[in-house]
Amino acid sequence: MGRLFYQLFMLCFLFNSLCSLILGASLRSIRTSKLATQFEAIYNFGDSISDTGNFINVPAGANSPYKSLPYGKTYHPTGRASDGLLIVDYIATHFHLPLLNPYLATGSDFKTGANFAVIGATANGGDYSLAKQLDWFKSHLNSTFANNPTAIQEKLKKSLVLMGEIGGNDFNGPFFQGQTIEQVSKLVPGVVKTIKDAVEEVISLGASNIVVPGNFAIGCVPIYLAKFATNDSSKYDNLQCLKDYNDFSNSYNQELKQAIQQLQQAHPEVAIVYADYYSALISVITQAPGLGIENDGSKKACCGSGNNPYNFGDKGCGSPGAPVCEDPSKRINWDGVHMTQQGNKCVANELLKQFVPALLKHRR
Ligand SMILES: *[C@@H]1O[C@H](CO)[C@@H](O)[C@H](O)[C@H]1NC(C)=O
Ligand SMILES: *[C@@H]1O[C@H](CO)[C@@H](O)[C@H](O)[C@H]1NC(C)=O
Repeated sequence: MGRLFYQLFMLCFLFNSLCSLILGASLRSIRTSKLATQFEAIYNFGDSISDTGNFINVPAGANSPYKSLPYGKTYHPTGRASDGLLIVDYIATHFHLPLLNPYLATGSDFKTGANFAVIGATANGGDYSLAKQLDWFKSHLNSTFANNPTAIQEKLKKSLVLMGEIGGNDFNGPFFQGQTIEQVSKLVPGVVKTIKDAVEEVISLGASNIVVPGNFAIGCVPIYLAKFATNDSSKYDNLQCLKDYNDFSNSYNQELKQAIQQLQQAHPEVAIVYADYYSALISVITQAPGLGIENDGSKKACCGSGNNPYNFGDKGCGSPGAPVCEDPSKRINWDGVHMTQQGNKCVANELLKQFVPALLKHRR
């Protein structure tokens, strides 16, 4: 009798824990699968901030430094303009998707998306403009889905489109060729329009989740700090960044946000979300010591050399004899222009905190 009771009790006990185990596991799997199936694929457009290996597959990039060490020092050289992973890699990882294969790496698996970004790309003009990247995107979709617009629509409905960062190079070029902020400002409406049109185009193909990044706080980037250094302390803000260049980025971002608002009004069924690269970078620089960045390491390039606090302007990263700092994870910036893996990771965390809730809110 006592033995039977014990057996029954054990059975119940086991059954109970089995129940809660099963329940717990299924709850967990519902939760993860909701996240995991949030998006089936990611399609990315952009420049060196998110190129995961396209540029090294075109003739102009075949002999570029991005192909070999010290680029890729932390994650092996892949054609990424960093010592390791990029913001887009952390975004893919966040959504439980594999790192995006570059579109030009033929033979890759593109089931979970494709990356059309190219180092040096501009929104307007050049060989790998946004128009060119959109052409690639369309022919990729046509060849994958046998020119069937409905099949394309269905795929894109379950996908995330990252429309940039693109446009930064439309301004970098003219700035470094000596144009004034006033002159470069005249390019802003054209860049915003190209990005807006590109968003319209992917929506017409079926995209329903679109993230549109703005520009970084360029006044905090070593190449700007070194090239436009001045003894006039009134030109610097409290983070020792160049005010005028940050203001330029800010006003470009404002115009881009207005365009996004217009797009959102015209397409209420689509989530079109701004990604605030500007604030994300500022926030990472502000929190630098807590993120493991060494003293004075928040605006100092790791790779290359320069006779200034930004370590930029003498030997370029990847050129013969260019030094590399011992631990890239203690700097935000890698080569004066692009961030280290650590910088990318921290900025991506800031961005995800901000744009994922905005996306989900729209999806209800
Ligand atoms: C894709 O296929 C559609 C339908 O056949 C066609 O209208 C469109 O021009 C094609 N686009 C590209 C870029 O090949
Ligand atoms: C700042 O002043 C010093 C000393 O007069 C001068 O050598 C240097 O070139 C100046 N730097 C800039 C960026 O104008």
